[in-house]
Amino acid sequence: MIEYKTELKKIISLVDLSGLEDQINSISKLINEKDLANFFVDSIYLQSVIQLIIDDFWIQSKNSETEIQFRYLIKNFFNAELKPLLYLHADLATASIDDMHIAAKALAATEKLLIKSIKSKPSEFQKKILQISLHQMSELYELEHQLNVKQKTTPERAKLSLYRSFDALDQILELNYLLNEVALIDQKERLYEGAGVGVQSSYATTLIALRYLNLTKASKFIDLGSGYGRVGLVVGLMRPDIQFTGYEFVKERVDIANKACTRLNLDKHVSFVTQDLSLANFKIPQADTYYIFDAFTDASYVTIMDQLQEIAQVKKIVAVTKGNAKLWFKNKYWTEPQEFNDGNLCFFRSRGSRN
Ligand SMILES: C[S@@+](CC[C@H](N)C(=O)[O-])C[C@H]1O[C@@H](n2cnc3c(N)ncnc32)[C@H](O)[C@@H]1O
Repeated sequence: MIEYKTELKKIISLVDLSGLEDQINSISKLINEKDLANFFVDSIYLQSVIQLIIDDFWIQSKNSETEIQFRYLIKNFFNAELKPLLYLHADLATASIDDMHIAAKALAATEKLLIKSIKSKPSEFQKKILQISLHQMSELYELEHQLNVKQKTTPERAKLSLYRSFDALDQILELNYLLNEVALIDQKERLYEGAGVGVQSSYATTLIALRYLNLTKASKFIDLGSGYGRVGLVVGLMRPDIQFTGYEFVKERVDIANKACTRLNLDKHVSFVTQDLSLANFKIPQADTYYIFDAFTDASYVTIMDQLQEIAQVKKIVAVTKGNAKLWFKNKYWTEPQEFNDGNLCFFRSRGSRN
């Protein structure tokens, strides 16, 4: 039986990568969804941690008069960033900084090959890989969140950043940003033409939001300005009980999101709709959670906030904001926000009054 942990141990010391593709192909034929997902997540996570170790070694060497002993430096990571990868500790304990550079290269190649291999599997298998990976990622983002809170006091140390580490998931979801070119450059809304991944909330944001929102079973979730649909796809994969709707101005983005939904069989509980939310004759439906990531022009915000405030007075709702969207919620309708990631992610709860 093939053990992905043993394979990952072998891969990190590979200098000659010519046989790697065959190696990954045979591993992925022999292991189950859970192990393949863990293999995928661990190899991406390890890449980020190794980059952090390389950066930290550089910072420590620059700040020290004497030579930094790598074997002592790496041990600091065993109780923190490397904690989830216990099975690699013995190998890493005897590694050198040069070994870290070798491992970084091998892991980058492994990530690409694993994606290729996952994408060649049937969609139901891919869906399971995505679900397991997202659960694992959620644990790692939580670890990062906790470590960053703790390490605020030691700024001379390099900080783990998983913010964009898992963007490769887009390839499995087939969120191809290049397919989208907004033709209506001269229209009045704020559409982030050509911004690609920049239009999207990171997986980190969505997973941290889901972890701390504690969404009620079978509740309704609306993304106002849903872009290419990352938020909805993550919610749909993690919480099949939630009814999710994303409204988005740009039809091409809606089409890409709905295509992913259909392919992964999420379309019974997740849908994306082409809609200009600034139109006064559009009524935002009632939901329990609303997500807004810097979507609108000031004029559109006025129309949309009027409606959300109306709903907030008759129903307990949560507004999740990313970026500057929070500035629109600092008023009597909403409680003080619960903040994450230095206020980049906020939860505002309705104060209610007419209920
Ligand atoms: C920064 S993106 C956020 C995408 C998604 N919510 C996320 O967090 O990944 C904002 C999206 O809002 C859309 N948008 C802007 N104005 C809009 C409007 N009036 N009606 C509907 N969508 C709009 C933009 O096209 C863009 O895709």
